[in-house]
Amino acid sequence: MPIREQWRSRWGFVFAAAGSAVGLGNLWGFAYRASEGGGAAFLLLYILIVLVVCLPVLVAEMVLGRSTGSSSLVAPAKAAGSRWGVMGWLFVIAPLGIGSYYAVLMGWTLDTFFHSLFVGLPADKTEAAAFFGSISSGGSVLIGQIISLVLTAIVVVAGVRGGIERLTRWCMPILFILLLGLAFWASTLSGALEGYKALLSWDGSEFFKPSTVRNAFAQAFFSLSLGIGIMITYASYLGRQNKLPKEAIAVASLDTAVGLLAGLMIFPIMFSFGLNESISESTIGALFIALPAGLGTIGITGRIVAVIFFALAYIAAITSSISLLEVPVSSVMDRLGWNRTKSVIGVTFLLFLLGLPSAFDINFLDKTDKIVGQLLLILGGFLLSIFLGWVIPRKFDEDLSNSNSSLRVRRYLKFMLRWVSPPIIACGFIVSLIDLFQNWSS
Ligand code: PFF
Repeated sequence: MPIREQWRSRWGFVFAAAGSAVGLGNLWGFAYRASEGGGAAFLLLYILIVLVVCLPVLVAEMVLGRSTGSSSLVAPAKAAGSRWGVMGWLFVIAPLGIGSYYAVLMGWTLDTFFHSLFVGLPADKTEAAAFFGSISSGGSVLIGQIISLVLTAIVVVAGVRGGIERLTRWCMPILFILLLGLAFWASTLSGALEGYKALLSWDGSEFFKPSTVRNAFAQAFFSLSLGIGIMITYASYLGRQNKLPKEAIAVASLDTAVGLLAGLMIFPIMFSFGLNESISESTIGALFIALPAGLGTIGITGRIVAVIFFALAYIAAITSSISLLEVPVSSVMDRLGWNRTKSVIGVTFLLFLLGLPSAFDINFLDKTDKIVGQLLLILGGFLLSIFLGWVIPRKFDEDLSNSNSSLRVRRYLKFMLRWVSPPIIACGFIVSLIDLFQNWSS
């Protein structure tokens, strides 16, 4: 067995994990879902889910990776015997599922970036919709998808330290600075206040609406890259010294901060340019139609903002897509004993094939996102909670105590994983499932 790679530094791991978390889901998904689910009620629910449910599961996922030193496919069986091997498959299927369409979304982002930079922005919404139609079909969608997969593969081939850690260490600070700049610019727009009010408007009845609950759960799990095996894989490259509860708090805070900042940027833009209706029209198309159309009305400033926004979105996306590739790659390396390069080539090709239906059919993409990106992740979170809380609680405790986490923290986490997270996630899963199918059948 070759020696397992390790992160160079504590921040290497935190940035890589946060890089996976911060992605297209934060930059667009957050604002879109907030607008669908009634602003502040969604916001509060989302933050509560992150704090109460996701944080313990995040630590659990990391502990499983570090304590077994294995990829997500192998880790459950290694920790609790071969009966649990099936669970490992979930943590390979889910990243393959998301990875397949994520590259398509990245392709659209890249196209829109180049178009804003070299050609300009559309004059109105009709022109924007026509442009989106052209980049989301035919040859250009394939080119964007292939370029994104190849770039992702290049980083992952370079390895944990030489590729993933090196890239995310640069990208994350740049992303933060750009986003802060854009949020500040958006605050100077005429409709900024109205936008903030909409984001923060309180309507108590929204809190219990099934679609708000589904959106909040989906946003929390998808945005944190939780329940999918990424944190298992990334933590398997960790040494003993990291205090995982602290790392989990750092990752969740960075991720939530980026989601909030993106909301504080997008809402003012939408309200200033009278696009508030189109923000929640669809998960996917709205970003690529409404934003360029809105920014197109203010000349060169709008064009600069569009270029920065889509560059930023692409940077955020690539630090997420490398994590989506790394999970199956490390599983193939562990399971089949292939070397990194061969595994990356094999899995990238598979992702390309799996992504073809999404590339040519937005409805397929949307459905895959809802089934894999929402339901499977929530299910994964539930299983992890049960697994670490009930099946291997001693290993969980041992791992944390070896890295000097205090008894109080360990007790708290164990209590949450056993008694609090499972019932809440189970309710969230059932509500989401019913809401989704009701939406589809209506
Ligand atoms: N967290 C990423 C985002 O918000 O865009 C997407 C993602 C990456 C989800 C990796 C799940 C995952 F495993």
